[in-house]
Amino acid sequence: MNKSAPADLGLHPLIAQRWSPRAFLQDPIPAETIERLLDAAIWAASCFNEQPWRLLVADRGVDPQAHAAVTAALTGWNGQWAPSAPVLLVCGHTTRFSHDDTPNRWAAHDLGQAMGNLSIQATAEGLALHAMGGFDADKLRESLAIPEEIELVSVVAVGLAGPAELLQGGLHEREVAPRARKSKDELVFRGRWSG
Ligand SMILES: Cc1cc2nc3c(=O)[nH]c(=O)nc-3n(C[C@H](O)[C@H](O)[C@H](O)COP(=O)(O)O)c2cc1C
Repeated sequence: MNKSAPADLGLHPLIAQRWSPRAFLQDPIPAETIERLLDAAIWAASCFNEQPWRLLVADRGVDPQAHAAVTAALTGWNGQWAPSAPVLLVCGHTTRFSHDDTPNRWAAHDLGQAMGNLSIQATAEGLALHAMGGFDADKLRESLAIPEEIELVSVVAVGLAGPAELLQGGLHEREVAPRARKSKDELVFRGRWSG
């Protein structure tokens, strides 16, 4: 396991500083900042310029009911920490190309790239993100009228990171645990696959 802090690797600060906190302050995010985050996502590359990503913004300050509906669909520990975040993004993608209605098997790649862009913009704005796969997609679909043809992938909490002391017990432990990555040899092959 590689435990080097990303700050020691010569990475761009916007990559090195990004992490996924669970302690969020409840402070709202200005509307124009949210728009910049969304524009960052929208300007990602995508296969055939299909732009398959679809994002639903649940901003507590604008639509508390939508925010409550998203928090109600979170599962496990996510339901304990994520509701503090002022904005929850429901992230999904279309599954077929619009020009010929064939399956778009690159859509998940493109949503991921859009969220990578959004994450870099958020870091530049002093905000933190924490993506969650732990949510009840059927509940979300029903409460927010999300059509069946949208593949739901994640809910992403966005806000200002707060002190770890906002969390108790196991959540606090996870918040202060060192971040780690697999060794590069497990993940990267050079010239020939050697897994
Ligand atoms: C698609 C996706 C789903 C995730 N699901 C959850 C989740 O349900 N709950 C959670 O606490 N963290 C979740 N995470 C956060 C990861 O655990 C976290 O990104 C990983 O441990 C690396 O930590 P870092 O983001 O601080 O580098 C998810 C991350 C991604 C990208």
